[in-house]
Amino acid sequence: MHLFQKSLFKLLSKGYQGLTLMPHCKNPLLAVLFSGVTVAGLLLSGCGKSEPESTPKSDSTTRKPKSSYTIGMSQCNLGEPWRVEMNAQIKAAADKHPNLQVIFKDAQNDTLKQRAHLEEFVSAGVDLIIISPKEAQPLTEPVAKAMDAGIPVIVLDRAVLGDKYSCFIGADNKKIGHAAGEWIVKKLGGKGKVVELKGLMTSIPGQDRDSGFREAIAGTSLEIVFDADMKWLEPDARQEMESALARFNKIDCVYAHNDPGAHGAYLAAKAAGREKEMLFVGIDALPQEGVAYVQQGILSATFQYPTGGAEAIDTALKILQGETVPKKIVLGSRVFDQETIAQGGRALD
Ligand code: FRU
Repeated sequence: MHLFQKSLFKLLSKGYQGLTLMPHCKNPLLAVLFSGVTVAGLLLSGCGKSEPESTPKSDSTTRKPKSSYTIGMSQCNLGEPWRVEMNAQIKAAADKHPNLQVIFKDAQNDTLKQRAHLEEFVSAGVDLIIISPKEAQPLTEPVAKAMDAGIPVIVLDRAVLGDKYSCFIGADNKKIGHAAGEWIVKKLGGKGKVVELKGLMTSIPGQDRDSGFREAIAGTSLEIVFDADMKWLEPDARQEMESALARFNKIDCVYAHNDPGAHGAYLAAKAAGREKEMLFVGIDALPQEGVAYVQQGILSATFQYPTGGAEAIDTALKILQGETVPKKIVLGSRVFDQETIAQGGRALD
């Protein structure tokens, strides 16, 4: 078999369904092929501008300049608006560069699928990988393997372990958790009963949003009476909150590690007729989600967690052009509450 056919067959047999951005594809036949089985984006030349190499490069310093580049993007799920927004930001930023082609894959919240994404990207010989990993530990090894194959990897939003990647981009989750804790301490006058609904605790943002929060409330009379891992998911948060409501007849505040979690808790409290008894605080602050909830009086505060999509494309371009990039890019955050929402939130110090 010709190398192209072999590679195409290999990728097709893996059942790959992704979304390829092909703004410059003029051939309708190929466009159809690309939209259905986007693997072709890695393999064809002439339609897209990429010239993917099947032999991986050794490292960024020896990388030869090319006229176009293919980036593989592995998203851990597309079930949450925040991740849809991240992909949209990546697409918008990449669309400004006709020499960039991004291949998006959705792991559907399945770590094994996401591990397979990395292997597929490596065997297809993409020029760079962006990954927003579901969990830290199980995705550390495939990231390292891609690096061993000479493919730079940008880790976005949720970190992996160790330091075998090109660059990590994300906001400081510990700082955000700490700021949320301070905000709640202040609002409740230093005392009260809190429910903490945690993000997936096998992911670093979940761990950091928890530890930052606990540090901030330590030494106060705020008490975490109930905590549970709602895995970043609104339905899970709602269910956990139902248990909390059944167990405690007084709750002063719900601190949820993301806005969907805070909203799930609000819905549970509302169904029990108790939503006015407590404050709801979340994280993410998407304009159409958390910020809108604050405007509607559903949440008392939300702390922004930027997706970093634009920064990822910026950094990718630098790496592909052989520039040195920082190992870690820390994004800022803002708090949106009744006092600050009108002026677009307030930056965390
Ligand atoms: C989306 C999400 C966001 C959260 C981020 C943390 O999957 O849960 O709500 O801020 O992931 O990685």
